[in-house]
Amino acid sequence: MTTIDAKVARILDAATQAPSILNTQPWRAVATGDSIQVRADSSRGLPHLDPAARELHVSCGAFLLNLRIAARRESFDPRVELLPDAADPALLAVIDLYPGLRPTADELELAVAVPRRRTARVPLDDEPLAVDVLDELTQTVFDEHALVRVLPTDGPQRRSVLALLRETEAEIARDKVARAEEGRWTDAARPRRGVAAFEPRTTVAILTTPGDSPRDWLVAGQALERLLLTATVYAVRASFATAALEDPVTRHELRTLAGLVGFPQVVLGLGHSRLGDSTPRRSVGDVLTGA
Ligand SMILES: Cc1cc2nc3c(=O)[nH]c(=O)nc-3n(C[C@H](O)[C@H](O)[C@H](O)COP(=O)(O)O)c2cc1C
Repeated sequence: MTTIDAKVARILDAATQAPSILNTQPWRAVATGDSIQVRADSSRGLPHLDPAARELHVSCGAFLLNLRIAARRESFDPRVELLPDAADPALLAVIDLYPGLRPTADELELAVAVPRRRTARVPLDDEPLAVDVLDELTQTVFDEHALVRVLPTDGPQRRSVLALLRETEAEIARDKVARAEEGRWTDAARPRRGVAAFEPRTTVAILTTPGDSPRDWLVAGQALERLLLTATVYAVRASFATAALEDPVTRHELRTLAGLVGFPQVVLGLGHSRLGDSTPRRSVGDVLTGA
């Protein structure tokens, strides 16, 4: 591990708490002085389930949001440039840490939520979220330049979207290559859950971005993590159902069924549930590579 400042080590430790597709943690970091590069680790990609590396970018976007939040906790003013070098697409972002003001109460709340956030792996309550919490989550995503579409609690649209999600998950369960790829990353004790965690009245939210490029995927990941941290502040947990987004045909079908304007990046069930176990993480030393 390169020798780094204790503050940078704390910031990187918070970043590693980010959610990632199948807990692949497909990120690397290079820290030099007050600058951190975030790089994609393609050896942790999913060539079958995620051939375009869209979910890899979304995961790294979540890592980047945690970096930003943790940098603010250390009173830095983090300035981020996404994809700064067209000739080096694995270089996803550079964060330069400038001296900044002390964090606000809202920023501290999100920083405290970083190690508390967990994906829900048990069924969510059979209750839609309170409207004021939903408004707050929608606003937080908007602030990160993405949008959330919440499906009406009852009605044909929700039923047809959930039917599509279930069908795709069943399809993947029958696909031997997909199963082998999932098996490489998931613990049998913590299988990939999807729409099974959604109860009839669980809130279903689809995070979308206006475009569908690697930059949009990084934006989606940051918006996703900010939504998840804000949800954690309200003791709301999220369960992912992303299988339908892994095939261009079902992704397009979802877009049509849900009447989306932009591109769907993540499908979430949102609700209260008991706190599940935490998942293992790579250490900061493993994530850091030399400059
Ligand atoms: C882009 C993305 C897609 C995900 N898709 C799924 C999914 O389909 N099913 C699931 O159970 N979890 C999914 N997850 C959640 C991860 O499995 C989870 O973040 C990881 O196992 C680490 O656990 P934690 O979130 O509790 O820290 C996804 C996460 C991300 C960032």
